[in-house]
Amino acid sequence: MDTFEEISVKGFVEEKIDPTLDLFEEIEKLKKQKNAVILAHYYQEPDIQDIADYIGDSLGLSQQAAKTDADIIVFAGVHFMAETAKILSPTKKVLLPDAKAGCSLADSCPPHLFKKFKEQHPDHLVITYVNCTAELKALSDIVCTSSNAVQIVESLPKDQKIIFGPDKNLGKYVMKKTGRDMVLWNGACMVHEIFSREKITKLKERHPNAKLLAHPECEDIILQMADYIGSTTGLLKYAGKSDAQEFIVATESGILHQMEKENPGKTFIPAPPNNNCACNDCPHMKRNTLEKLYLCIKNEQPEIFVPADIIEKAVKPIERMLSISASLGL
Ligand code: 13P
Ligand code: SF4
Repeated sequence: MDTFEEISVKGFVEEKIDPTLDLFEEIEKLKKQKNAVILAHYYQEPDIQDIADYIGDSLGLSQQAAKTDADIIVFAGVHFMAETAKILSPTKKVLLPDAKAGCSLADSCPPHLFKKFKEQHPDHLVITYVNCTAELKALSDIVCTSSNAVQIVESLPKDQKIIFGPDKNLGKYVMKKTGRDMVLWNGACMVHEIFSREKITKLKERHPNAKLLAHPECEDIILQMADYIGSTTGLLKYAGKSDAQEFIVATESGILHQMEKENPGKTFIPAPPNNNCACNDCPHMKRNTLEKLYLCIKNEQPEIFVPADIIEKAVKPIERMLSISASLGL
């Protein structure tokens, strides 16, 4: 009888894993042997977060990718994040446990259409949210993340005309915070657009002291109710510092693992979606598993490649973001 579990990473490796293996131990061994570093986003499954060398939001992960001296970066996140790491560290091997881990927000902005959009506004500066393809970054002047978007817009002259994409919700939030007008691309994230104002209101009635924490990718109707709005790292820090004991969390559910780990006495409730599905799990982030992470580091694939001409153009707006962030101490 075959006791081996079949694990399939579509299009790359189809391999059986010996179920008696301690994958945590094996991954640690491979990491040392290959001088590899595991960077993981907060939306990854708990096992992956626990074995990562660094867990963070998009800004923190880019900063780590830019400065690591590892030979291999295993990026436990989605495609645009691994691509950003490759753009910042082109000589390193960058791996993504599941090559199909994409992003609905990045998909909502095809570069050829954005190029036309940009041509319609020739006197505008282009700021793109990091959740986009390398091609889109190559069409941009500055990249931003949810933790520095407001400050990046504020760092520009008040009369500077701006195109912001692809996330309209983050764009509207930045416009509200800065008082600036921007031309927005009409994109959004499937996970953050699903929260129900009515259900959150009912939940707040049952938990009157709970604070609502929301990611700026949520719709304005949810952000209006929030006690705190921020990137995943921002939400985590706020939960740690706050005196409140209960929190309703309007972002992807993976962040609850670190929130609970760092705050054992506090209660974190995922914000309810507007139907009964498990919609606050990002289907892209959750494609990565510990098994796929093990196979990825062992076989050194799937590997991320970005054409040299795209790297050359895309690195400038990302480095501009990193230097503005560094000057602001972010
Ligand atoms: P953060 O940079 O806040 O971690 O956001 C990443 C993301 O994909 C949100 O959907
Ligand atoms: Fe993309 Fe949304 Fe998933 Fe973040 S949560 S990776 S924005 S689909």
